[in-house]
Amino acid sequence: MALLPSLLVFLLSLAVGLYFFPSVLRSVGPVLGSYLRRSSQTRRELLLARVAREQQDHDTKHKNEKNREDDEWEQVETSMVGSAVNGGKADKDWSGIVGFFHPFCNAGGGGERVLWAAIRATQKRWPEAVCVVYTGDHDVDKAAILKRVKDRFNIHLHAPTVHFLYLTTRHYVLASTWPRFTLLGQSIGSVILAYDAFTLLVPDIFIDTMGYAFSLAFSSVLFPTVPTGAYVHYPTISTDMLDSLNVGGKGVNAGAGQGYRGLVKRQYWNLFAALYSKTGSLISVVMTNSTWTQTHIKSLWGPFRNRRNKTTDHDIDVVFPPVAVEELETEVEVSDESENQRGPYLLYIAQFRPEKNHTLILNAFAKFASSNPDMPSYPGQRPKLVLIGSVRDSDDATRVYKLRLLAHELHVKDDVEFVCDATWPQMLEWMRKASVGVNSMWNEHFGIGVVEYQAAGLLSVVNDSGGPKLDIVVPIDGQPTGFHASTAEEYAEGFRKALSLSRGETLAMRKRARKSAERFTDRGFAEKWLSNMDRLVRLQVARNNK
Ligand SMILES: *[C@@H]1O[C@H](CO)[C@@H](O)[C@H](O)[C@H]1NC(C)=O
Ligand SMILES: *[C@@H]1O[C@H](CO)[C@@H](O)[C@H](O)[C@H]1NC(C)=O
Ligand SMILES: *[C@@H]1O[C@H](CO)[C@@H](O)[C@H](O)[C@H]1NC(C)=O
Ligand SMILES: *[C@@H]1O[C@H](CO)[C@@H](O)[C@H](O)[C@H]1NC(C)=O
Repeated sequence: MALLPSLLVFLLSLAVGLYFFPSVLRSVGPVLGSYLRRSSQTRRELLLARVAREQQDHDTKHKNEKNREDDEWEQVETSMVGSAVNGGKADKDWSGIVGFFHPFCNAGGGGERVLWAAIRATQKRWPEAVCVVYTGDHDVDKAAILKRVKDRFNIHLHAPTVHFLYLTTRHYVLASTWPRFTLLGQSIGSVILAYDAFTLLVPDIFIDTMGYAFSLAFSSVLFPTVPTGAYVHYPTISTDMLDSLNVGGKGVNAGAGQGYRGLVKRQYWNLFAALYSKTGSLISVVMTNSTWTQTHIKSLWGPFRNRRNKTTDHDIDVVFPPVAVEELETEVEVSDESENQRGPYLLYIAQFRPEKNHTLILNAFAKFASSNPDMPSYPGQRPKLVLIGSVRDSDDATRVYKLRLLAHELHVKDDVEFVCDATWPQMLEWMRKASVGVNSMWNEHFGIGVVEYQAAGLLSVVNDSGGPKLDIVVPIDGQPTGFHASTAEEYAEGFRKALSLSRGETLAMRKRARKSAERFTDRGFAEKWLSNMDRLVRLQVARNNK
């Protein structure tokens, strides 16, 4: 590819330009941008024609059979139109092209779930809009991808208005392409990939859900009228990483800041962090998947974004990714009758890994059990700790063995139950029977398991850190949904508090927990996504009507 060297030079000057001569950049970028726009114009028209054709086929096919899915589709749509900002041109009939930059769209992980849920919500709110996914998965066609989305995530996309464009340069964002200076290399790679994308089609709104901030910034430079949106799962570089270079730091790079190489590394990371921070100010709308990520992104991007006056009061919004809460809500009852089925059982669902700190929970439980707790809602019953987890290898098996020994030593052997490799129905059974959900991992970024506890109506006792503290076990309607703890004593105290509530208080807290879990449903995600998407659409309309 002869284009590449010149592109690299361009990019390097872009980086330097971004830093020292923003005005030069602002005048050169759009020239290249309008060239790309012109050269992809034909493809754009072809795409729109294809959408119209497919839509027509779809309509004729479904004209008479008013199928259920479509009904549901319209219902949700009307409720969403109500929830988003109405009026103006950002209305239902907006018909632009939304480009989703997601080179690994067929991966089937949590990040992809966000992508598909976002596209589905967008399709419902703006039925005339076209969603285009830039992907590098050449081996699968549209039908195969849509089928997988349906099978894997149970998300039904409206086929006529979603399309895929195939990128040829995906290897530039692989870590293996850049053995040295990986962070910078991958970022340059993401700009090359974005260039690749724009030669295929210039969208009207450009969104990244994989963390390629540089691609978005590049788009802003080339196409000032195209608003950009970022959904950030994880900051590319975090302040924790910079701190970890210091002596006594944590993680894989602990203490790597020593000596000559360390000095270089530190300078390189600092430079990269500065570049990344500045990049953030070129993105119109930013969402993060958790409060933890929001805090980090704010500390990096906030200052530059403020300077550029992109701040409004809902800038950098937290949009929680969807968790399959609905199933638990239907499978596990939370009512006055179901209280009779629940015992004073503490449930801890976690792999038997060291960082899950089962030891601490056993110690806490022993303390709690030996204190002869008063449990008015469970007369005559003994408290019980149930540890459910998968045993993947012999290390895990050894750990379980040691934990059993510990339970024996602590004289709680008969009140602790180990359930290894439980099936989903078994887990559901325990969630119906138990009363409290426990989690003792330190600084968990999120904690899907804790959301599941809440959906099942369990009262949570979780570590006082990370996502469980900031996002999940938070007050609802001004009242607690669980308890936070840091030490074995505090956990024991948390168990006591949770199990000594009266029946009425217990049920009320279960209901609040369930309400708390509602924030993590598909619907909760769609509403927040659309309110941010609405900002992008309004920006697009405003910028193009000048
Ligand atoms: C956000 O994304 C990161 C990285 O994928 C993940 O570790 C974290 O659990 C996610 N948070 C939520 C709320 O899903
Ligand atoms: C941003 O700029 C607009 C006008 O350009 C001004 O009215 C507004 O107060 C500014 N906002 C902030 C937060 O500075
Ligand atoms: C478990 O928790 C205790 C108490 O907070 C802590 O001292 C210990 O380091 C933790 N262990 C692990 C493996 O995280
Ligand atoms: C829980 O969080 C605190 C910080 O809030 C930490 O010091 C403590 O070690 C954590 N406990 C466990 C069991 O990881």
